[in-house]
Amino acid sequence: MKKFFKFMALALLGLVLVACGKSGESDGSGKTYQVGVAIYQFNDNFMTLYRKELESYFTKLGEETGNKYVLDIQDGKQDQATQTEQINNFIAQGKDVILANLVDPTAAGSIISSAQAADIPVVLINREPEVSEMEIWTGKTAYVGADATQSGTYQGEMIAATDTKGDINGDGTVNYITLFGDPANVDAQQRTAYSVKALTDAGIKNEALAEPYLANWDTAKGQEMTASALEQFGTKLEVVFANNDGMAVGAVTAIESAGRKVGKDILVVGVDAIPDAMELLKNGKLTGTVLNDHYNQSHTAANVAVELMEGKEVQPYYWIDYVKVTKEGDAELKDAEAKTETIKEVKERYAARK
Ligand code: BGC
Repeated sequence: MKKFFKFMALALLGLVLVACGKSGESDGSGKTYQVGVAIYQFNDNFMTLYRKELESYFTKLGEETGNKYVLDIQDGKQDQATQTEQINNFIAQGKDVILANLVDPTAAGSIISSAQAADIPVVLINREPEVSEMEIWTGKTAYVGADATQSGTYQGEMIAATDTKGDINGDGTVNYITLFGDPANVDAQQRTAYSVKALTDAGIKNEALAEPYLANWDTAKGQEMTASALEQFGTKLEVVFANNDGMAVGAVTAIESAGRKVGKDILVVGVDAIPDAMELLKNGKLTGTVLNDHYNQSHTAANVAVELMEGKEVQPYYWIDYVKVTKEGDAELKDAEAKTETIKEVKERYAARK
């Protein structure tokens, strides 16, 4: 009988080891985790790249650890009420963590509070909320993103680095338009301000030909609005600052249909380094873009989520650098370490900006 029990115990141990996957590489837990992911809308070039990379990275983490990460990814369809309902469902279902790309970042406070009441940690991504929202439940909430002022600055610097410094018609002033993403989005606000600030800081006189065009990150709207600006301002228009590549690609289409040539008589810069923009850049039809590193942002968001699911405390801020892109190889995706910041550090840095 004793022998039988010993045999059963050994057999059980064997089963446990098999369940853990490759021995030595596994942490031995072999647990299943439920991850709720709320995306502001699926119909977005950049967030699609991000979402796909997040999925494949979680699969890879599962293979490496023997754990199972079950992702429930919801499309907020650009509507905060819809998304809040999706997140409330995640809370009711008792997910182990929530990753949220909020439609409206001002909803962060109420979402964090609801999640806190159910003890479900939250990782916010891509759309940065106010610092005060990140103070609600420190240790159990994090924002993973990129500093949009950096991307705006890089856009301006790329224009300043061209032969004409943006003053194509040589009248002493760079006349530009901005294709604006979305008023509720910090990325749009800061890229708009910092692209121009970089020109000014480089000592380049500049003037907006119009108020920023609200093109909602969208290619068709970017095209439509650039077409009407070209019609209205003609060769006065020298630079198009697009808050993202989607709109920059639309601008290039409008410029070509108007019979003008990017690089020769007008300059266009975007942000994201999506494949369509990289194709244009390769063919000399886009002045530059900025890599919005979805690869490292999604990996960091997943790693932070895993730490939270394991009951650990995390930092409030994780930042991934943007990268200037004026030629193909510049946008290469490679592993990069996120920089972390405390609430105090972020507050000091933001105060110094003003
Ligand atoms: C990207 C945009 C995207 C937006 C979504 C920004 O960081 O540059 O392309 O539409 O995020 O929130």
